[in-house]
Order: sequence, then structure tokens, then C-alpha cells
Amino acid sequence: MQEKKILVTGGAGFIGSHLVRHFVHKYPDYTIVNLDKLTYAGNLGNLTDIENMPNYRFEKGDIADKECIERLFGTYRFDAVIHLAAESHVDRSITGPDTFIMTNVVGTANLLNACRKAWKGQEGRFYHVSTDEVYGSLGMEGLFTERTPYDPRSPYSASKASSDHLVRAWGHTYGIDIVISNCSNNYGPNQFPEKLLPLAINNIKQNKPVPVYGKGENVRDWLFVEDHVAAIDLIYHRGKSGETYNVGGKNEWRNIDLIKLLCRIMDDRLERRPGESAGLISFVTDRAGHDLRYAIDTSKIESVLGWEPSVTFEKGLEMTVDWYLANEGWLASVLSGEYENYYREQYEQRDDKR
Ligand code: NAD
Ligand code: TYD
Repeated sequence: MQEKKILVTGGAGFIGSHLVRHFVHKYPDYTIVNLDKLTYAGNLGNLTDIENMPNYRFEKGDIADKECIERLFGTYRFDAVIHLAAESHVDRSITGPDTFIMTNVVGTANLLNACRKAWKGQEGRFYHVSTDEVYGSLGMEGLFTERTPYDPRSPYSASKASSDHLVRAWGHTYGIDIVISNCSNNYGPNQFPEKLLPLAINNIKQNKPVPVYGKGENVRDWLFVEDHVAAIDLIYHRGKSGETYNVGGKNEWRNIDLIKLLCRIMDDRLERRPGESAGLISFVTDRAGHDLRYAIDTSKIESVLGWEPSVTFEKGLEMTVDWYLANEGWLASVLSGEYENYYREQYEQRDDKR
């Protein structure tokens, strides 16, 4: 196996920590350098089991800080970048879009410029981990393919679409070897409880109302985080330069149906009477500009790279619930600090529509 130095950005976040752990264990000949600003979403507690591995390094820093990036490239002479660092939550992008522009757009441009200088047209791969939200919103029919025109509609998705465009432009203009993947909603252990599933798990556990936006009719496609990591591994190693790969779970759920399923699992795990958790469901003011439906055509990655999701939703959801129930310390540590303020600001203004 070839020795390689890979910069993973955002490796202390949800998907990044699963990816870093996977690479550190599976590829002992790679050195994995995890660059993370440790925002509210970054948590070194996600990585304690690998922090002393000989092929792992952590660097605290901001991708929007050019000097920090240049210094790191000078120190390590990276062979590749797998870029996940981002502001990732749509609701936060609605109340405060500026950090999304700084991190997702300016930060990505800084990384691309550093690669351009460091690699000068030679070997070096830049992999951008992106979202299906760049394609906009579907009606009740149809799927996003790699040829679907971009139509981002939230500050978050617009910032990710911008960064996708920058990555392609740097590939086309400067000859950098780039790949992009656009993935649907991930779920699993270590996800910050601002996103729907961990927020609902936590609220149900604490007997607090479970906020469902609008009528709960919006549809998302859900993929277990380890399946996404397996796709990233394959695309990083075997994806064709300049190409995009859509990644999804072929697992569409209306939010309300998903929350009802989750409530049944929680009733079982918490030994509550059937229907008790569902009594917490509270329909609240909808998200501004709420995209109706995301769904992915995964035929390209299936036929070209042989990837498909391996974890059934039932199993993945149960594993996720069990992880949150077993890791109360993790949950308590991320719920302290700014979370209470965030929750109050986001949810106090949403009326209960029951
Ligand atoms: P996350 O919010 O859990 O983690 C983001 C990480 O990036 C955190 O560790 C944070 O500290 C770090 N970070 C933020 N700003 C930074 C900066 N300026 N410099 C350095 N580090 C910074 O996000 P996630 O859910 O793990 O998503 C990771 C990537 O995957 C993102 O690019 C996101 O757009 C993409 N994605 C996420 C999903 C999903 O469902 N979560 C789906 C498709 C694509
Ligand atoms: P989220 O986890 O924020 O992911 P995304 O907006 O990137 O798809 O939300 C998933 C779906 O759940 C989305 O349709 C919005 C909805 N939602 C709620 O109904 N209530 C909530 O409290 C949250 C956070 C999301």
C-alpha cells in the first residue's frame, strides 16, 4: 500500500469522525490529519478511541483562515484532501447565513488555492463531500440524478452549491484532480442533536414536545452514516477524476411517519405504554422555504463502483436509538453550552399548531 498524507477537514463532526476512524483503522499506511475548528458541532469526544493511533494527527484550525491552511500544507505536504468541514444545519443558515458563506464558500476556496499551489498540476486529489440539497426540491415524483440542474433554495444549500461549483472550476481550470459526492440525509451515532433524529430521540427521552415542522409531509431519504463512509472510501479510491456521484439510501420517509416509527422504538426501549411517546408529537410553524422532497437516483455509484447501502433502516434506527440511550455522557456534554440558547431561539418562536 502506498504511503499517503491525507487532510480530512471537519473530522470532529458527525460524518467526519466516522470517516476518520474508518480510514485510520483500515489504512495504517496513510497518515490522517484532521483539521477542525471545533465549532459547536465539532467534538473531540467523538474520536477518543483513535487519538493515540500512530497514523492520526489532530490540528485545530479554521479553513477560512488562509495562513492556517498555508502553514498546514507547508508542514505536511498533503497528497490528498477529503473536505467535509462545513456549517451544516439548514435552520442555522436561515437565522445566520454569514458563517455559512465564510466556511462553506471562502473556506473551500482557500483549500482549493492551497492545493493548486502545493500540487502544481501533479498528483493530488481533492474530494468534496457535498449534499443532495444543491439540486433543490422535488415534487412527489422523480429522483435527483448527477445531471439534475442545481437549484439550491436555502442559504445552506446555496453555500454548498457554490462550493461544488468552485471545486469543479478549480478542477477544470487548474487541472486539479477533483471528485464530488452529493449525499442524502445521514443518521447514526454522534450526530449533533439539532438535526431531526437525534433532536427527537433526546426530546422523547426527556418527555419534551417533539417539534414536527408544518404538517410533517416533507420527505427525506435517509442513509446510515457508515454506509456513506463506505461510499466516500470507494469514491476517494476509485472515483473518476472530475466526476460527481450521488449517494442515497433508497429509503424515503415523510417526516411524520419517520417520527411515529421512532416513537414506537422509543416506547419499546423506554418501556413506555404503546403510543406514549407519540403523544409528544407537536406540529409547529414550518421552516421558511422548506424543501418538500429529496430523493436520489443511486444507479451511477451502484453500477460504476458497486456500492449500495448495507444497513436496513430498521436496524440502523435501532442502533442509533440504542447508541444515544447508552451514551448519556456524550449527549450531556453536547447539550451543555450554547445548545439551550439555540433551542430557545429556534423553537420558542414556532407556535404549537395542534
Ligand atoms: P457537522 O456539522 O456534524 O460537522 C461539521 C464539522 O466541521 C465540525 O466538526 C465543525 O467543527 C467543523 N467546522 C465547521 N466550520 C469549520 C471551519 N471554518 N474550519 C474547520 N472546521 C470547521 O456536519 P456533518 O453532518 O458531519 O457533515 C459533514 C459534511 O457532509 C458537510 O460538508 C455537509 O455539508 C456534508 N453532508 C452532510 C449530510 C448530513 O446529513 N449530515 C448529508 C450530505 C452531506
Ligand atoms: P434536518 O435534520 O434539519 O435535515 P435537512 O433539513 O438538511 O433535511 O431536517 C430533516 C427534516 O425534518 C426536514 O424536513 C426538516 C424536519 N424537521 C422537523 O420537522 N423538526 C425539527 O425539529 C427539525 C430539526 C427538522
